[in-house]
Amino acid sequence: MPPLEWWLYNGSRTTIGLSGLSVIAGVVLVRLGNREWHKRVMAVACVLALIFVGLYMARSMLFPPPKYHGEWRSIYLWILGSHTIMSVVNLPLVIVTLYLALKGRFNGHKRVAPYTAAVWIFVAASGWTIFLFNS
Ligand code: HEM
Repeated sequence: MPPLEWWLYNGSRTTIGLSGLSVIAGVVLVRLGNREWHKRVMAVACVLALIFVGLYMARSMLFPPPKYHGEWRSIYLWILGSHTIMSVVNLPLVIVTLYLALKGRFNGHKRVAPYTAAVWIFVAASGWTIFLFNS
């Protein structure tokens, strides 16, 4: 693997994993009543997700996509398909969740946020699984 592809591949793998872990940490923090650190950690999760999208797009434009052709291909395709659909679903969910929080509308935020967190964690975990298939 050329060095640039290696950096883009491992950078996207690291950032998507850390963004999922940050969301888990943010949920734990708010459940413990720590709203200030919930806000900070969720902001970190959003920044990591944005960096991931940048690295992922750069890799997709510069290098051919990795293709898994092993004996688990049907499972791989199922995970890839659900990951792709859920990552598209995640974008408006994150925008609405952030908007409600930043406007101080925390009742609305509390209603939608558990779905956002669940979808986000699924996208990060399935993304990591796809990386594992391709490594
Ligand atoms: C997209 C990023 C975010 C996600 C995924 C998220 C997720 C969550 C979740 C799962 C809860 C718990 C809901 C429940 O009680 O069941 C929550 C509560 C809360 N969030 Fe967020 N959050 C995000 C960003 C923010 C931001 C940026 C702020 C601050 C500006 C914020 C402020 C709060 C507050 C104050 C609560 C507690 C509301 C209450 O208990 O009355 N969140 N959030």
